[in-house]
Amino acid sequence: MILVTGVSGGLGGLVLDGLKAVDDVEVVPGTRQGDGVTARRIDFDDPASLAEGFKGVDVLVLISAGYAEDDIVLARHGAAADAAAAAGVKHVIYTSLAASGERMTIALPHRWTEDRLAKGPFDVTILRNGLYAEVPVGLAVAGAASAAETGVFAAPFGDGRISVVAKEDLADVAVRVAAESDRDLAAGGRSRHAGKTYELEGPEAIGGKAIAEALTEALGREVEYRDVSITDAREGLQGSGLLPYQVTHTLSIFANIKAGWSEAARTDLVALLPTEPRPVQGGIAAAVAAGGYRSQSVNPAG
Ligand SMILES: NC(=O)c1ccc[n+]([C@@H]2O[C@H](COP(=O)([O-])OP(=O)(O)OC[C@H]3O[C@@H](n4cnc5c(N)ncnc54)[C@H](OP(=O)(O)O)[C@@H]3O)[C@@H](O)[C@H]2O)c1
Repeated sequence: MILVTGVSGGLGGLVLDGLKAVDDVEVVPGTRQGDGVTARRIDFDDPASLAEGFKGVDVLVLISAGYAEDDIVLARHGAAADAAAAAGVKHVIYTSLAASGERMTIALPHRWTEDRLAKGPFDVTILRNGLYAEVPVGLAVAGAASAAETGVFAAPFGDGRISVVAKEDLADVAVRVAAESDRDLAAGGRSRHAGKTYELEGPEAIGGKAIAEALTEALGREVEYRDVSITDAREGLQGSGLLPYQVTHTLSIFANIKAGWSEAARTDLVALLPTEPRPVQGGIAAAVAAGGYRSQSVNPAG
């Protein structure tokens, strides 16, 4: 049996739906809102829910719960690792952060969790997820009104670009790895993905100029890209509604892009996906034109 945590979230929900569509696997949803009937209650902040919730689980898809200060995230993921060990979970699949994010502040809890899981009695697969395509899409949508008026898209990217990936692609890989692991265990063996770390970087890298081009296409007027300093970006984020730790992480991401460290060197995504990766650049223009993503947070700092 497979259990997916965080199923009310974007990634967990997609993974759950994908696994439900696979014929020969049994999947149960885990969520903080679980009633114990339609879904199990899984709250990393409440270890008692994990002792009960992980019972009988062979394959645990552990969706990171990163929206908090680092010490809280470490406690959450540590509790999940302890409970998985105590419950006799055989295989843990953890959604981590890709190598292009190595120097970002958001990397710390992910790398800590990878180390912590490696010490467990279960097999582990690390899915090192690239930055979501929602990040440049959100920036483009947020900047669309101003770009329409001024002809300028301003962002703290410098000349850097960031490799991004569609969340649906990441979910498709998680579904494949979880389903194959469950089948391998049911056949009496170990998962073929045991001990593997997959870099799921997006094959497309997006910079400020690319976003300006997408805005040009969507808005029907010439839009040029203009760099913003980190100092000005920090000032702009004050009073934006982001929590202090989110400001730290967001500025760290921008600094990494400016430093030219956010482009992927390699990816395992293409080899693990059943189809071609979903395009990102075209999706930016489409989202702006459709007014999509307006209600979504642009916060990349989970
Ligand atoms: N690669 C990237 O670009 C990127 C960007 C942002 C975030 N992330 C990370 O990727 C994760 C998944 O992304 P997403 O888009 O699905 O985020 P999301 O839509 O915000 O979903 C995160 C889910 O985590 C679960 N969660 C939160 N606190 C929890 C707790 N104490 N115990 C157990 N589960 C908890 C919640 O699900 P339930 O309410 O169902 O329990 C929540 O809906 C995020 O949590 C974050 O760590 C990655």
